[in-house]
Order: sequence, then structure tokens, then C-alpha cells
Amino acid sequence: TPRVFSGVQPTGSLHLGNYLGAIRRFVAMQDEFPCIYCVVDLHAITVWQDPKELIEATYHVTAAYLAAGIDPVKHIVFNQSRVSAHAELAWVFNCVARMGWLNRMTQFKEKAGKDRENASAGLFVYPTLMAADILAYQATHVPVGEDQKQHLELTRDIAQKFNHDYGDRLAELGYEEGLFPMTEPIIQGPATRVMSLRDGAKKMSKSDPSDASRINLTDDADSIAQKVRKAKTDPEALPSEPKGLEGRPEADNLVGIYAALAGQTKEEVLAEHGGAMFSAFKPALADVAVSVLAPINDEMRRLLDDRGHLDQVLTSGAERAAEITAPVMQAMRRVVGFVG
Ligand code: TYM
Repeated sequence: TPRVFSGVQPTGSLHLGNYLGAIRRFVAMQDEFPCIYCVVDLHAITVWQDPKELIEATYHVTAAYLAAGIDPVKHIVFNQSRVSAHAELAWVFNCVARMGWLNRMTQFKEKAGKDRENASAGLFVYPTLMAADILAYQATHVPVGEDQKQHLELTRDIAQKFNHDYGDRLAELGYEEGLFPMTEPIIQGPATRVMSLRDGAKKMSKSDPSDASRINLTDDADSIAQKVRKAKTDPEALPSEPKGLEGRPEADNLVGIYAALAGQTKEEVLAEHGGAMFSAFKPALADVAVSVLAPINDEMRRLLDDRGHLDQVLTSGAERAAEITAPVMQAMRRVVGFVG
């Protein structure tokens, strides 16, 4: 049975990359599949988080999910630490995954930086927890931005190795197909990798020290307009077709952002704006950005004023999530040979 799972870390404030690459895509999948959207607080603490800020950020991501249009009644919204299956299955996957596989993860190398000796052990095994998130629900589709692709490949490797290592036992217990599915990454649309507004070679990120490098979901109309106006560009006019964007990373990024916000393809954007200078295109971009983000921003503020409602969403979500994991975890225990 098809099922969608995805997650966002409650660290810092959400930005346009998170929205266009992930959250907006989450919303789009609700009509077609049963969906589970998680606030991954266990992942957040792989780097130090101030406890009060972690609490705030957890509500912030929850509010962003709802404000963007995720339906927490038809679907499931919850925070990861409330459902014990995530940490439990991650342990088993730590024993399935190989050191060599984890050593190849580029996100660990980026996040640990030069001082690897001082990175948390949790940061190293981050991807096994992510595999557990997905596979505890036997999820088949995972919408994410481009930067998560390698983690999803690892998730498939872990599922495959588990199904293979325990193949005989699985067959004996009647799981001929294996216990865990080969999850499909869903990386689609014109904004799967939104770049920094200050540097077309760097991705837009929560951790970039320059606030001007990103548009935050909480930015007001003036700061959005200002950040777009100051965005780095080249001096050429826009081309009339996407192939003219090759070798122009900043131009390509702004056209991709426009397309995603307007619900168009890059072709459509360039058919309309080809030949325009950035002095004309940037105000148009700021306008679409404000028209999409302002209502989300307003709704987030309203939701954040009612913590009782957000708590209710997370509690109900966690209960329903745990119910889905229970039979999967029970099967995992029998397969592995845990008594009880
Ligand atoms: P996180 O919290 O870093 O980012 C959340 C989502 O936003 C996407 N994203 C981007 N998309 C386009 N352009 C960008 N500049 C950009 N920056 C971030 C990410 O690809 C992601 O989809 N490991 C995950 C969280 C996670 C998860 C999971 C995801 C934990 N468990 C299970 C899917 C399934 C992460 O760090 O996302």
C-alpha cells in the first residue's frame, strides 16, 4: 500500500528552499496518498540545540505545515520524539548499515567540517534514523529536496540489506516480499535545489550566517522585496529559453524560484519574461513571492498564538503514527529474534 512520509528539522527558521523544495510538495501529495509529515526533533539534536529554542522551532515547523495547507485530520502531523519506534528501529539499522556506507555521506562531511573528532556520534548515524523514520511506516514515497537524495539511496540500501540478511527468517514467517519496501524519492519541480541569493554556487540554507542569502517564511513583504532586489545576478537580460540559463547559476536560480512560486515551468516563465532585464524581473519576482508567502506568514502567526491547538494536532498525530508503527515493529522483533 502506498504511503508518503517526510520530515523537516526544527532548527532555525524555515526558508524558501524548505518551502518550495519540500513543504509545498508535501501539500500536493495529500490528494493522492495517505501522508505522514514529521517534525524531526531527534534529528535536530545531532547538533547542539538550546532546549527552549527547540520547543519554539518545533511549534514553528508544525505551524508552517498547517499554514501551507497540510490537513492534520486527514493526514498525520507529529513530532518524532513522541513515537518510540523511530529510535528503536534506528538502533537495529545501526547494526545493519556499514561504517563504509555512512562514511560516504556528504552531509556528514559538510556538517562535521574539519573537526570530525568533535562531531556527535548521532550526526554520523543521522541517516540510519532517517531510514527508520521512513521504514517504520513502510513508506513508499518520500518527497524531499535534491540534497536528501543520497540519504534516500542509503534508506534503500538498508531496506535491501535487512530483507536480504533476514531473508530465510522472513520467508519462514511469511514475508516473502521482505519487510521493508524500496522507497521512491520524489524530487520534482523547478525548485528542488534553491540556491543562496548571495551566491549561486551555494544552496539556500538555515545555517548560512548571512540572512540576506535566504528568504525566511517569516519575512515580511518589505524584507522579501529588499532581499530580492539585492540578490546577486549577472548583467545580461533573461534568455527566452531555459538552455540560455546554462552557466548563469544566479539567473537560473531566480527563474526557478519564480516558476515554483507561480506554479509554472521555467519555459513558461521565460516565454513571458525572456528579454527582460533583472531590474524589471526582480520586482515581478518579489510580487509573486509576497503573494504566496504573505498568507502563509499570517496563518503561521495566527496558529502560533494558539499553542493548545498545535499541541492537540501533535498529540493526535503521534497517537495515530504510533498505531501504524506497532505491527511493523512487532514483525521486526520476531524477524530479528527478539523474545517477547
Ligand atoms: P531539512 O530540515 O534540512 O530540510 C527539510 C526539507 O527541505 C529541503 N530543502 C531544500 N529544498 C530545496 N532547496 C533548498 N535550498 C533546500 N534546503 C532544504 C530538504 O531537502 C528537505 O526535504 N534529513 C532531512 C529531514 C528528515 C527526513 C526524514 C526527510 C528526517 N527524516 C525522513 C524525509 C524523510 C533534513 O535534514 O531536512
